[in-house]
Amino acid sequence: MAADRILYHLNEVFSPKDKGRPLRGEEMNQTTILKDAYIAIKDGKILKVGEGDVPAELIDEYTVMEDLTGKVATPGLIDCHTHLVYGGSREHEFSKKLNGMSYLDILAEGGGILSTQKATREADFDTLYDKTKNLLEHMMVHGVTTVEAKSGYGLYWDTEKRQMEVVKALDKDLPVDLISTFMAAHAIPEENKDNPDDFIDEVIGMLPQVKAENLAEFVDIFCEKGVFTAKQSEKLLRAAKDMGFKTRIHADEIESIGGSKVAAEVGTVSAEHLMMITDEDIKGLAEAHVIGNLLPATTFSLIEDTYAPARKMLDAGMAITLTTDSNPGSCPTANLQFAMQLGCLYMRLTPVEVYNAVTINAAYSVDRAKTIGSFDEGKRADITVFDAKNLDYTMYFFATNLASRVYKDGKLIV
Ligand code: NIG
Ligand code: FE
Repeated sequence: MAADRILYHLNEVFSPKDKGRPLRGEEMNQTTILKDAYIAIKDGKILKVGEGDVPAELIDEYTVMEDLTGKVATPGLIDCHTHLVYGGSREHEFSKKLNGMSYLDILAEGGGILSTQKATREADFDTLYDKTKNLLEHMMVHGVTTVEAKSGYGLYWDTEKRQMEVVKALDKDLPVDLISTFMAAHAIPEENKDNPDDFIDEVIGMLPQVKAENLAEFVDIFCEKGVFTAKQSEKLLRAAKDMGFKTRIHADEIESIGGSKVAAEVGTVSAEHLMMITDEDIKGLAEAHVIGNLLPATTFSLIEDTYAPARKMLDAGMAITLTTDSNPGSCPTANLQFAMQLGCLYMRLTPVEVYNAVTINAAYSVDRAKTIGSFDEGKRADITVFDAKNLDYTMYFFATNLASRVYKDGKLIV
């Protein structure tokens, strides 16, 4: 069968193995790196990847041949944890952070998430749409073809709904794919300061509407000191699971208060952050097969020293991903490559572990591994091409956008 398009003479193609489940532990350091390789695309899907000369039977007079001599290609990068849709920005808090004020103290005085809540409430649909579109365009330019997007700057229904509607609209309007997560339990609204349990009940009360209007696939909660307790988190996530949602939890980001235990007990798809996770909880997540979504750019941007113990997680047999956590407070960036480089530099992950984290494992984290995350025949032809001669170079030469061509469903989008 002839291909519609063939990318050829690629110096290296990173081709993850899809084992029908996320790669765990040392599997994450295994992959196939094809040399002098080609990728053949038919009807927007992967037809074949291979090394050396392109087989003659793949080419006919309609095949577009693209010579990418000396470049590197990977499956399109997947950013599986972002807070994408919000009003305003928080550079007015930047100097507080630089002067040593902590993230939770800024939140406790009504700043942080609560300040973005106010700005988001005041922003209409079009404002949020344009702002988010701009952010997504930056992400695509950096090689990202799929993005998970959380609500959570409305807290109350009207704005939460607006955020999720923006995600839905942009998923339709832009080539990048979006996976929506409902996260009204992102902060305790001022009005509920003294009765957070009531707010959790309110959020549980929103779930049927999220489901009925098909506004989100996942439900997430911020389990943290001064935000939601493990007990409240468990209550919400169990209710969400019973209603057919997939679940995630922000756990052990700043303090370890039991979020990872909840993840293991409820059986969430992933647990996010995990900077402060205990050895015992690592074991628990490994046994429960909860994916660790790790966010090193957040540690970096919070000016903290403690990165999530990725190596310990791999030694315990966990599956991990790396993501930006893109948000206006703890991690204002759109550059997944930078988070990946921090994964190498501060978590001591190998480039192969990092690329497995943001391709095949991230595909499992957003429940899309049947269609993306590797170059198996029939998967969608989402491809990121780097202006680099090998995979290692893309991690070594840091904080510079090396993505030079990005394909979604076989079409060039960047
Ligand atoms: O993952 N920790 C909670 N949520 C985000 C931060 C959101 C914000 O500060 O606006 C995070 O770091
Ligand atoms: Fe987050």
